[in-house]
Amino acid sequence: MTAPRTLALASRNPHKLEELLRALPGWEIALVGRDDPPPENGATFEDNARIKARWGRLHAPPGSWAAGEDSGIEATALGGAPGVHSARWAAGDPVGRMLEALAGEEERGVRYVCVVVAVGPDGGEVVARGTLEGTIAREAAGSAGFGFDPIFVPVGETRTVAQLGDDWKRTHSHRAQAAAALALAVS
Ligand code: IMP
Repeated sequence: MTAPRTLALASRNPHKLEELLRALPGWEIALVGRDDPPPENGATFEDNARIKARWGRLHAPPGSWAAGEDSGIEATALGGAPGVHSARWAAGDPVGRMLEALAGEEERGVRYVCVVVAVGPDGGEVVARGTLEGTIAREAAGSAGFGFDPIFVPVGETRTVAQLGDDWKRTHSHRAQAAAALALAVS
């Protein structure tokens, strides 16, 4: 398979586009189908990423790859929740919701998970995954990133992802790791 350089990402989240662009230098990546997206009703990250990828395939230029990405956070103290329901669970206030859910809780372990499903021009499919382990801080700090980043302290770090910044995220995040696995798989 020759290395593709164009990829249509079925997403409405510009942060995801920026992170994938930084993680996949040399690729042309564009958001497609921002209006009228399909319902994300799969049971797993992979199911939802596949739903978005197949739908993106319908909107993507014929010669390019189409990708769907699904991600979220799993908290040990919450039995792995909110997981695939992260976006809805956060309800516009991911930091407040998580700090409230873990109030008084000593077990603060969490994991970001990202799954990318890419469908090639010939319909062939690649599944790539990435994870980032960490803990939830007692209070928010930093302004980079989005979602839970102001309270997510990666293992081995003392600062939050929002403090560590975009360059750190480009090389270490769950999305960066999934993107690297994707690049390897299709090259
Ligand atoms: P979705 O993948 O668009 O369904 O959204 C997943 C949700 O998980 C986001 O709305 C965020 O709340 C959270 N999330 C996923 N990736 C990240 C990240 O890199 N930083 C912070 N929050 C994230």
